[in-house]
Amino acid sequence: MIFLLAGSYLYLVKPKYMKKNQTPNPQPQSSKIGILQQKNKEALQGGGPKRVEAQHAKGKLTSRERVGFLLDPGSFQELDKFVVHRGTDFGIDKEKYLGDGVITGFGTINGRLVYVFSQDFTVFGGSLSETHAEKICKIMDMAMKNGAPVIGLNDSGGARIQEGVSSLGGYADIFYRNTRASGVIPQLSAIMGPCAGGAVYSPAITDFVLMVEHTSYMFVTGPNVVKTVTQENVSAEDLGGASAHSTKSGVTHFSCANEIDCIDHLKKLLSYIPQNCEEEAPALAYTPASSEEREELDDLVPENPNQPYDMREVIEGIADEGSFFEVHREFAENVVVGFARLGGKSIGVVGNQPAVMAGVLDIHSSVKAARFVRFCDSFNIPLLVLVDVPGFLPGTDQEWNGIITNGAKLLYAFSEATVPRITVITRKAYGGAYDVMNSKHIGADLNFAWPTAEIAVMGAKGAAEIIFKREIAVAEDPELKLKEKIDEFTEKFANPYSAAERGFIDEVILPRETRSRLLRAFRMLENKVDTLPRKKHGNMPL
Ligand code: HXC
Repeated sequence: MIFLLAGSYLYLVKPKYMKKNQTPNPQPQSSKIGILQQKNKEALQGGGPKRVEAQHAKGKLTSRERVGFLLDPGSFQELDKFVVHRGTDFGIDKEKYLGDGVITGFGTINGRLVYVFSQDFTVFGGSLSETHAEKICKIMDMAMKNGAPVIGLNDSGGARIQEGVSSLGGYADIFYRNTRASGVIPQLSAIMGPCAGGAVYSPAITDFVLMVEHTSYMFVTGPNVVKTVTQENVSAEDLGGASAHSTKSGVTHFSCANEIDCIDHLKKLLSYIPQNCEEEAPALAYTPASSEEREELDDLVPENPNQPYDMREVIEGIADEGSFFEVHREFAENVVVGFARLGGKSIGVVGNQPAVMAGVLDIHSSVKAARFVRFCDSFNIPLLVLVDVPGFLPGTDQEWNGIITNGAKLLYAFSEATVPRITVITRKAYGGAYDVMNSKHIGADLNFAWPTAEIAVMGAKGAAEIIFKREIAVAEDPELKLKEKIDEFTEKFANPYSAAERGFIDEVILPRETRSRLLRAFRMLENKVDTLPRKKHGNMPL
């Protein structure tokens, strides 16, 4: 029988030539299956073998190979495989590729649902057309409805030039969804090729950006335009390669040695974070040890307060063995941020780094830490804050570039965070930086200090030089007087006890006990409920 659609009526018509009980079969089933198989085969070829070869010759995987390495074997369900572009200008209508330069769908990573798009550079350089954008938007909408992360594997020459404003509109459709999804589902962007022009703003809105060394770059405009506008001669790598963005701009959180390393980083990152803002991060099985004491921590802080030590050693001494996963490692190294596990559960760690610039807070470190705190708070990851900070970095460079507004971001991020928050002061907590680094006053749940902690307006020497200036000036031996006054100040303030007397510190603990205290404390805070005042949204000092 043949179905005819006429207006809104559906007619069932049996052709006259057909005999009674004969079933029409104009095309044998095997040939219909053959057509589908042919189309599937065509879609798998992307832009064709030559372009695939060129992709490999650049040391890059194809979009499908990347998805294959990322997802659990056999778990990928592709969507929109047969979508083609609708462009008509500049002869593009004569060149169509199934899938239109992006592979989209869902699958699992270690059994957990994720949505993925992977741009195919072999099709029009992975450039974004209207339909290419629609495919990405479709999986983003699904991810929002079903509460699962979106992973973007970016490798694109930007807007599909032949499509003009339709392509620009497509980008904006993605930016809009990135923003609406922010804080609802995790969004991860891996940059595995070019990412230029306005296209960079989608990854920039997402939670984490990963780049592959030497084969990826991000910039708002490339070296040629840079030369015309600013007369600078700079290579694509120097301008916007993984090294530039992981050390100088902080745009990327992870600089990866190659594409497989990048995919491994994506998987590891996901293991610490939940599926969406309503859920908790997955926990690993944990069997309590007979002793959780870490004696090596007792000797970690040097006697001399000006001598550095590595805060990573403190983190490693506290967290489950081998669990610390540092984020933004090469950027603003005076603060350390990353994920770790404590008793199998995911936590976010923020620590001043006395080994770099004495752990001072400056613009970059404040912004780095603030962004990390906000991510953890968005996705229910408790925060551990380790403090050894001599204050904010002074000077014209910092002031003129806005240390006030940028430092306030960290203050704001901590003050707004409602996840369990615990602070451990290992050594210095001076001045405004004491307040900022998750002090009791801005809502921390528990604040511990080591006996080596010094909680004061400033360091003993600086304080003595200011408040005893006249006394020292008229002294017979000014140097001796200064030393006396430093000792006096140290005795009074360079310790945790003044703060503990006021309840600003809940307990002064032995360094070796830190892990066991934190295990107990985070367990106590597991059911913490804290809400923000009703508002549309705050006005963070951006
Ligand atoms: C259509 C494109 C394309 C694009 C590349 N191709 N970019 N097709 N639109 N934007 C095609 C090429 O024609 C070529 O097709 C294939 O992709 C590979 O490109 P090549 O140039 O041969 O590759 P390569 O030498 O590796 O150079 C890659 C590149 C370069 C650096 C990305 O192609 C390039 O500069 N493209 C233009 C980048 C750009 O200016 N985009 C617009 C940015 S503005 P064949 O058929 O030969 O394989 C923008 C606005 C977004 O994106 C705004 C959002 C708000």
